Amino acid sequence: MLSSSLPRTPARAFLLLLALLLTLLRPSAPFSDREEAQIRRLQEYLRIPTAHPDPDYSAAASFLLSLARSVGLRTLTLEFAPGKPLLLLSWPGSDPSLPSLLLNSHLDSVPAEPSKWSHPPFSAARDPATGRVFARGAQDDKSLAVQYLEALRALRDSGFAPLRSVHVSLVPDEEIGGADGAARLAASEEFRGLNVGFVLDEGQASPTDEFRVFYADRSPWRLIVKAAGPPGHGSRMFDGGAVENLMNCAEAVARFRESQFDLVKAGLMAASEVISVNPVYMKAGIPSPTGFVMNMQPSEAELGFDLRLPPTADPELIKKRIDEEWAPTIKNMTYQLIQKGPIRDYAGRPLMTPTNETNPWWPVFEQAVKSAGGKLAKPEILSSTTDARFMRQMGIPTLGFSPMSNTPILLHDHNEFIEDKVFLKGIKVYEQIISALSSLPGY
Ligand SMILES: *[C@@H]1O[C@H](CO)[C@@H](O)[C@H](O)[C@H]1NC(C)=O
Ligand SMILES: *[C@@H]1O[C@H](CO)[C@@H](O)[C@H](O)[C@H]1NC(C)=O
Ligand SMILES: [Zn+2]
Repeated sequence: MLSSSLPRTPARAFLLLLALLLTLLRPSAPFSDREEAQIRRLQEYLRIPTAHPDPDYSAAASFLLSLARSVGLRTLTLEFAPGKPLLLLSWPGSDPSLPSLLLNSHLDSVPAEPSKWSHPPFSAARDPATGRVFARGAQDDKSLAVQYLEALRALRDSGFAPLRSVHVSLVPDEEIGGADGAARLAASEEFRGLNVGFVLDEGQASPTDEFRVFYADRSPWRLIVKAAGPPGHGSRMFDGGAVENLMNCAEAVARFRESQFDLVKAGLMAASEVISVNPVYMKAGIPSPTGFVMNMQPSEAELGFDLRLPPTADPELIKKRIDEEWAPTIKNMTYQLIQKGPIRDYAGRPLMTPTNETNPWWPVFEQAVKSAGGKLAKPEILSSTTDARFMRQMGIPTLGFSPMSNTPILLHDHNEFIEDKVFLKGIKVYEQIISALSSLPGY
């Protein structure tokens, strides 16, 4: 039989070779039926329009609830604000008295501008040549929810039984500050009942073959400085004018900004490790029908700044600097400081999760990623803010982790995508992580 299929003529040999080559060059890796089904479930979730200002929370929740039920998880739907469901999915461990593992993902997404995308942002179109699945939320962070659930499904099917309970929280409103989502969850009775010992939340894609992991977020502050002073003719030079005083403020802030930025430029610190401060608006001048009155010095002026503090910063020192240098009262300046996030936990400790053996979950997490064939980059501080801060504020070790290597960082960008094989690999990584962490013996 074998010999009859062997080439007998050069033409046949050529055709056979061609067929072989085409097989080898087939662009997308062949996946199993199970994997194809996992990709389809990701696409189905990505097609639900979850962008602000009008995320379809009810469709997202019902999709995830049915997925969770098919995995055999316990489900609980909370609603801290009307129309904003929050799902808690649980797999009880054999010793539920031990602190549990919580996997968090948010239901909402930022908006997208469809005209700037190569595929509609909620089509979840999968490019056959590259395996890229295009959707708003593909990286940030709807893929995580499906990966968590698929990893749990695989573990269940393999007969695994966790020692510690494993929970998944799917929360609304992360992209608009989390006040009705993770913040309310962390403060709730239900959350206390989960006895959470360790949290995994979203991280960021990595363009290299290392996964990134984040142990802290920077805390965003908003600073508004207002100056008041005597008005005067544009021709007069006098001390104490509002704009003049405000310009002194701008100069003092610029000097501080430079001192921080220099550390980054010199390679001594990462951008997320310094205090960033950037002017975001200026308001002054007396409007006229053609623009501004040009021969009058106004009696009021205002400057707005975006400030970001790493957990290592001392918030009292920054306040002192604002009081004494940036907006001193004796210079007729007042300020408003809106702290959009905490910088210390409930016990006054910096909001950082140790990534060394003082955190018993860390070496297990690190080893699990390795066992799944992954590499971890040096732990980092995230430049922006996520729901992780609410968990850290409760004193719970929390890492930001999205297992997407060799992937450009496209969160909030046009043409956000996740590659099918990267998504599938992430499921395997979570299988290892969940099985290892939920088996961590009592401590
Ligand atoms: C503060 O404002 C008052 C009244 O407008 C003005 O007389 C004074 O010079 C200002 N002081 C300073 C330090 O700018
Ligand atoms: C572990 O990490 C924490 C916080 O990042 C740090 O304060 C502590 O000194 C580290 N301990 C050891 C033994 O390295
Ligand atoms: Zn996110």
